[in-house]
Amino acid sequence: MAQLWGGRFTKETDKLVYAFNASIGFDQKFFHEDVTGSRAHVKMLSKQGILTEEERDAILKGLDSIEKDVDEGKLEITDEYEDIHSFVEANLIDRIGAAGKKLHTGRSRNDQVALDMRLYTRAQVQEVDALLKHFLETILKVMEENKDTYMPGFTHLQKAQPITLAHHFGAYFEMFKRDRLRLNDIHERMNYCPLGSGALAGTTYPLDREYVAEELDFYGPTANSMDGVSDRDYLIEFLSALSIIMMHLSRFSEEVIIWNSNEYGFVEIDDAYSTGSSIMPQKKNPDIAELVRGKTGRVYGALTSLLTTMKGIPLAYNKDMQEDKELSFDAIDTVKGCIALFDGMIATMKFNKKVMAESAMKGFTNATDAADYLVNKGVPFRDAHGIIGRIVVSCIEKGISIDEMSLSELKEFAPEFENDIYEAISLETCVNKRLTTGAPGLEAIEEEIEACKEYLITYKEIGL
Ligand code: ARG
Repeated sequence: MAQLWGGRFTKETDKLVYAFNASIGFDQKFFHEDVTGSRAHVKMLSKQGILTEEERDAILKGLDSIEKDVDEGKLEITDEYEDIHSFVEANLIDRIGAAGKKLHTGRSRNDQVALDMRLYTRAQVQEVDALLKHFLETILKVMEENKDTYMPGFTHLQKAQPITLAHHFGAYFEMFKRDRLRLNDIHERMNYCPLGSGALAGTTYPLDREYVAEELDFYGPTANSMDGVSDRDYLIEFLSALSIIMMHLSRFSEEVIIWNSNEYGFVEIDDAYSTGSSIMPQKKNPDIAELVRGKTGRVYGALTSLLTTMKGIPLAYNKDMQEDKELSFDAIDTVKGCIALFDGMIATMKFNKKVMAESAMKGFTNATDAADYLVNKGVPFRDAHGIIGRIVVSCIEKGISIDEMSLSELKEFAPEFENDIYEAISLETCVNKRLTTGAPGLEAIEEEIEACKEYLITYKEIGL
């Protein structure tokens, strides 16, 4: 048991207590961030005359060698140490002796862990953003290739009006675009450096917090040392953004599962992204989409857990906060995996354009347009709605669609019908006449696609 705080104690820590208290099993995830933070701290200490240049150089060299050995697998991070901070410090002292004991001058593990977690999270925010960017490129490609791939649009999972695949994917483009904006907001708010907050009340050493903040690419130091050590808002915001990303992915998964079902047959998931059944040889299951949908719960769980952990904590640091790590790490890894896999699944998915168009032609998706046709011929909309409703009932009885009804039959319902009705309610017309901004009509979707392209080119990635 290697502990940093033995002096005050006369008895060994109980073994179970040691294991219960230790965080090395998971905080080794930010080993690199811990070393990076220590480098900035020690440079500042010598700049301020708190350590000599020789001490600084010895510590920097020691940190380099520890990092190298861990990276090369020559030095193992074991649970002999309480946490990653103790691991680094103990090994430093081992390697360079007395100077190593000065690294922690003017620092507490409270502001140290606050920094490490923030550095780690900041990098993860950027990684998730980059994955989303790539995913948006995949979505855009599908949009560009499917401007005239007709399909039914649904409300209540009932066929509603015809749309195109490009239009449908465009909705997801907007969702993931907003997710990136959320990540950017989080980055802007979180990008302040807590190091120098000390245990809670700053320190009597003349630290230069602005220098450390700049060294570590922060906008500046955090404003209040009590808040600096005990703020986990940024992590809660990140988990919240990740939960929303998963909610979007889960909705998308649900659609892929439905579209891939035998009944719909709109899409076929690539062999590389589906799985079989151990007993039913005919099966090709959408497991990836189902898992993404399933894992959404676990990411929500991490958010709920941290909100609950934080809600009763008095200022400033309390050990409860150690619980911010495991579930967050799990949620971050989960979301990154889900975006990457979903991206690959969409990029390789086959769209059965014919099946989609046929489906759009059935189910009276052109009923609104038929009513609008009558309105254009002078029938009040409410009357037109009633007339088309009665035509639909008659079509259902006969097992046909509106365009399969003869003109004389149509005229029995309303004398205003003329030969041009067939053109007016064709799939192409129904879609392409919808030209309001954001609608599926060809010119409208082309404008939307242009805007998406422009966004991908001009939108600044986080940290760049
Ligand atoms: N492992 C601790 C955590 O994750 C590090 C901070 C320890 N600070 C303390 N006062 N015990 O929060």
